[in-house]
Amino acid sequence: MVQFRLPREARPVTGREHAAPERAARPRRFVVYRFDPDTGGPPRLDTFVLDLDDCGPMVLDALLKIKNEMDATLSFRRSCREGICGSCAMNINGRNTLACTRRIDAYPGEIRVLPLPHRPVIRDLITDLSQFYRQYAVVEPWLQERTPPPPDRERLQRPADRARLVGLEECILCACCSTSCPSYWWNEARFLGPAALLAAYRWIEDSRDEATAQRLDALDDAYRLYRCHTIMNCTEACPKGLDPARAIAGVKRLLALRKL
Ligand code: SF4
Ligand code: SF4
Ligand code: FES
Repeated sequence: MVQFRLPREARPVTGREHAAPERAARPRRFVVYRFDPDTGGPPRLDTFVLDLDDCGPMVLDALLKIKNEMDATLSFRRSCREGICGSCAMNINGRNTLACTRRIDAYPGEIRVLPLPHRPVIRDLITDLSQFYRQYAVVEPWLQERTPPPPDRERLQRPADRARLVGLEECILCACCSTSCPSYWWNEARFLGPAALLAAYRWIEDSRDEATAQRLDALDDAYRLYRCHTIMNCTEACPKGLDPARAIAGVKRLLALRKL
């Protein structure tokens, strides 16, 4: 019998409530997932009530305020604060996104902040993305030449060839797409997932790369590529507006053409 509920020890319990500051003009509730591997207890959902008149505009600002002023043990990744590094990816009100690019006032009420789904949680909002990075490495995301010697000057591209990379090379490896993909949830050991496949297509499309045949050979696999069933969650989730589902379709199309 398939079990659709989390085991009891993995279900979050109601945690601590941190009240609003006195005379808060615009109180807003943030419900935040907490897990401390050192205590061994179940995860919990803590509530923090902030005064939005005394907080920056983004969800990441709220998390930083909580960490700085209410609970220094709250753990999450962040770096650039500009939607560039991809490290603040988390699930906000049911959607994978970047906390630093989401405005608090875009959410009407309580804001629930959880870790990215279907990844082992290391602590609080920090998940283990080792598998995700291993899959990225599988597609060998670097320029490969097959005709030595290497040129003694930069490799030029025609503008039209460079334009083919638009929408592919902007990926920041935040993992919002792969962790929202049901096929990835069920086949994470063998399906490469949308982020790695988008990266593969980025190099296949690069006019300077000479390993297209080998790249396609490596992807032509029932699990690595064809576990994608075009559910499109990945494209819906991407906070950079990229379209991994279209890139995957591009790889499938090239493989189909090759077999004609
Ligand atoms: S299109 Fe659907 S199945 Fe394919 S990678 Fe995206 S979310 Fe997963
Ligand atoms: S395709 Fe988008 S969602 Fe996926 S890793 Fe890249 S930037 Fe993140
Ligand atoms: S902190 Fe870098 S993307 Fe959010």
